[in-house]
Amino acid sequence: MTSESVLFKKSFEERLAAASREKVRIVIKEQYADAFDVLGDCENAHLIPGLIGPPGVGKTLLLRAYAEKTGRDLYWITGDEGVRPSHLTGAFNPSIVLNKGFTLEAFEPGPLLKSMVYGGVFGLNEANRLSEYVQNSLLDPFEEGSINVQRLGRIRAHENFFPVLTMNPEEMSGAHRLSEALRDRIRVWIRLGYPRKETEIEIIKVNCPEYKLSDTALEKIYGLVATTRTSTDIEIPASIRAGISIARLASEMAKRNDKKVDHQLLSDAATFVLVGALRFRPGIDAEPAVNSLVRRVLGSS
Ligand SMILES: Nc1ncnc2c1ncn2[C@@H]1O[C@H](COP(=O)(O)OP(=O)(O)OP(=O)(O)O)[C@@H](O)[C@H]1O
Ligand SMILES: [Mg+2]
Repeated sequence: MTSESVLFKKSFEERLAAASREKVRIVIKEQYADAFDVLGDCENAHLIPGLIGPPGVGKTLLLRAYAEKTGRDLYWITGDEGVRPSHLTGAFNPSIVLNKGFTLEAFEPGPLLKSMVYGGVFGLNEANRLSEYVQNSLLDPFEEGSINVQRLGRIRAHENFFPVLTMNPEEMSGAHRLSEALRDRIRVWIRLGYPRKETEIEIIKVNCPEYKLSDTALEKIYGLVATTRTSTDIEIPASIRAGISIARLASEMAKRNDKKVDHQLLSDAATFVLVGALRFRPGIDAEPAVNSLVRRVLGSS
C-alpha cells in the first residue's frame, strides 16, 4: 500500500468509529412523541406507516431516533426516476463475478435488502417519485416480507424489518403520485407539521449546543421563520433548518466580532439564509422580498 492509501484507510476507520459514536439529538415531545409512539404501534400491529410533512420538519430524524431507540440501523433511499430495483436490492459486482461467478460473495446488497436481512428500519423518501415499475417491486417486500434476489433466491425478511415511507404533503397530489398498489400497502398516515413556538425554539437550541443564544434572539429567529409560513407571497416557506441556520450563522458572526447577537447580525444572517431558503411566487424578486420581510419582522433597529 502507498502511504496515501495507508493514511486514507486509518482516517476512514476513525470516521467510521466517529459515526457509530454519534447519538441522535432530538426534541421528542408533542407531535414528535405522538408520532414516535404511533410508529411503535404500527410496527407491533404489522402495519406500514407513511410519515407526511413539509421539508425539514424532522421526518428523517424521527426515523433515526426510532431506529436508535430500538437498537437497529436506519437504511434509506430517496426516490427519483433514476432509481432502479437494483439500487434498492443490490447488484452483482462484475469484476468479482468474473472470478467467483454469481455467488453471494459477488453480490453487493442495497439498502432495502440490508434492512430486510439485518432487521433494520427502512426509510423510503419520496416513494412517489419512483417509476411505477420500481414502486411495484416494493409490493412483495412490503406486503409479504419477502424478496426475490436475482440468481440467489427468495428470502424472508428478518422479523425486525420495518419499512416506513416519508413524503411531502404536496407530493400527495402532484404530478408524481404514489401508485395505487403501493398506496394501498401504506396503512397508517402520520402527519407532522411545524411545531409550536416553544418547541421549535427548543429544537433550534438543541441544534446549537456550542452557542449561547439569548431568549430575545431566539424569539426573533422564530418570528422570522414563522412569518414566512403565513405569507401568501411564499410558495415554499422557511423550514426548521432555516431557523437553525440563522441561529448558527448569527452566533458565529457574533463570536468573530466579539459581541452578542444583535439586531444587525440577526438581520445579516437571516438575509444570507432566507434568500436561498424561500421560494416566492412567480414574478416576485427574492432579494428585495427577503429584505423587506426581515425589516418588517425585526423592526428597523
Ligand atoms: N424534533 C427535533 N429535534 C431536534 N432537531 C430537529 C427536530 N426536528 C427537526 N430537527 C432538525 O431539523 C432539521 C431537519 O430535520 P430532518 O432532516 O429530519 O427533516 P425531514 O422532514 O426529513 O426533511 P426532508 O423532507 O427535507 O427530508 C435537522 O437539522 C434536524 O436535526
Ligand atoms: Mg428527510
